[in-house]
Amino acid sequence: MNILFATSEAVPLAKTGGLADVAGALPKALSRRGVDTRVILPKYEEIPQELAAQFEQVAHFTVSFGWRNQYCGLLQAELDGIVYYLIDNEFYFKRRGLYGYGDDAERFVFFCFAVMEAVRYMDFHPDIVHCHDWQTGLIPFLLKTRYAFDPAWAYTKSVFTIHNLKYQGVFGIEQLKDLTGAGDDLFRYDSLEFHGAASCMKGGLVYADKLTTVSGTYAEEIKSEYFGEHLDSLLRYRSGDLVGIVNGIDEELFDPMNDPALHTPYRDSLSRKRKNKIELQRETGLPLSESVPLIGIVSRLVEQKGFDLITATFEELLLTEDAQYVILGAGEERYEQFLKEMSVRYPDKAAIRLGYDDRLARRIYAGSDLFAMPSKFEPCGLSQLLALRYRSVPIVRETGGLKDTVQAYDEYTGEGNGFSFSNYNAHDYMYTVRRALSLYRNEEAWKQIVRNGAKEDYSWNRSAKAYLSVYTQLAAHRKEKEPWPAIS
Ligand code: ADP
Ligand code: GLC
Repeated sequence: MNILFATSEAVPLAKTGGLADVAGALPKALSRRGVDTRVILPKYEEIPQELAAQFEQVAHFTVSFGWRNQYCGLLQAELDGIVYYLIDNEFYFKRRGLYGYGDDAERFVFFCFAVMEAVRYMDFHPDIVHCHDWQTGLIPFLLKTRYAFDPAWAYTKSVFTIHNLKYQGVFGIEQLKDLTGAGDDLFRYDSLEFHGAASCMKGGLVYADKLTTVSGTYAEEIKSEYFGEHLDSLLRYRSGDLVGIVNGIDEELFDPMNDPALHTPYRDSLSRKRKNKIELQRETGLPLSESVPLIGIVSRLVEQKGFDLITATFEELLLTEDAQYVILGAGEERYEQFLKEMSVRYPDKAAIRLGYDDRLARRIYAGSDLFAMPSKFEPCGLSQLLALRYRSVPIVRETGGLKDTVQAYDEYTGEGNGFSFSNYNAHDYMYTVRRALSLYRNEEAWKQIVRNGAKEDYSWNRSAKAYLSVYTQLAAHRKEKEPWPAIS
C-alpha cells in the first residue's frame, strides 16, 4: 500500500508543534510495517541547511489556481528511510517562520493545488492521501471536485486528521472563490461555507473518505458544542467515519539514554536523572538542589494550554511551596509578560526562557520532576508523553488525549502515572500541584509513580496498527486488477 502524507510541517524538516512530531514519526512506524509512506510539505526557508542540501529537483511545472499561474518545483530526498517531497515556490515559502504573514490562505491553497499536480511527477501512486489540519483541508475537496476524474488520482482515497479543531483556516468566501476558482455551488452549507465565510478545515471534514483525530476522548469531545468549534453538528453527522487514534512518540528520537542534548544519560535511575536537574538549575540560574521539586513546562503560551490556571496560581504556589519552575515557551504577549515578571521577582524559584529551543526542551523534560500541562482542551498532547518518557511526572487536566494517557495516582491501589483534575478551575489545579508536591516528598510513593509511567508503551506501535486498519478498509474498495491509468 502507498500512503502520501500531506502536511504543513514534519520533523526533522520544519516544526512548530506536535503535528510535526506526528508527521515525522508515524510514517516511520508505518514503513516498518511494510507500507510505503512518503511525506510532502512546503520548502520553507526554516528547513535546516544540511537537510535542504540533500534534496534534488525531480520536476518543475506550473500550478494554475483561480486566475493565478505559479511556478512550482518538486524536490525529493530520502531521510532516515523515508522519502520526503518538498513543494518549492520562493514567493510563498522563502521567509522566516512557517505561518502568519497574512497570506496563509493563498500560500496553502497553492500548496494543496501543488500537491494535486505533483503526483504526476512521482514514481508513486498514493492509494491514500493522508491530510493533516486545515492547511491541507482542500486536498480532499479537490479530490472530489476538480480532480474527480483525473487519472493521476484515479484510485486514491483520502483521510483527514484533525490535530486541532480550533485552527480552521477560515477566510472570506470571495477570497476562496478567487483562489480556488470554484463556483457558488461549492460554497454552500454542505460544502466549504462556514457561518457566512469559507473554511479550509471544512473541506477536509466534508470531503475526506475517513476522518480521524488524535485521541479517543477528543473524538467524542468535538461532537459536543463546547469543544466543537461550531463544527460539532457536522462531526456528529460524520461520526460513523470518525475515529480517535491516540498519538505516540518517536522513542528513538526522544531517548534519555541516547540524547545528545543531555548532560547525563539515564533510563530508570532517578539519581542519574537528578544530575540533569542540577545541570538545568545551573543553566537557568536557579539554586542548585537535588531535593527541591522542579516543575517543568514546555509549551506554546496560549490559552489552550491552561495558562489562565498557571498564571492565576503561580505566585501563590511560589510563595507557599518549596518548589522551582522552569518554563520554556513562546506565544501570547500577556503570558510572556507575566512569566517574565515572575522570573524577575522570584529569581530563586522561577526561570523562564521565551522562544523555541528543541535542545533546552529536552533538558527540561530530563531535569524536571514534574511536568505541568493543565490544558483547557488538548486533542492529544505529546509533551506529557515526552515527560513520561523522560520520567517527569505529568500534572494534567482530564481532557482529550491527556485523559487517555495520564491516570491519576491512587495511593490506595498504587496505580497511576501522574496527577490530574477535572474542572477547568485554578483551585483544583493548585490543589493537584500541592498533592503532587507532597507525594514527591514520599520517596516510596514517588518511585512507584515513576515506575508506573515507565511500564507503559507510548510508542507508535499500537496506533500505527490502528491507522493501517483505517487505510486498509478504504483501500479495499480499490479494484485490485485494474492497472493505474496512464498519466499525461
Ligand atoms: P501542540 O502541538 O498543541 O503545541 P503537543 O504537546 O502535541 O502540543 O506538542 C508540542 C511539541 O512541541 C512537543 O514536541 C514539545 O516538546 C514541543 N515544543 C513546544 N513548545 C516548545 C518550545 N518553546 N521549544 C521547543 N519545543 C517546544
Ligand atoms: C495539535 C494538538 C496537540 C496534538 C498535536 C499532534 O497541535 O494541539 O494536542 O498532540 O496536534 O497531533
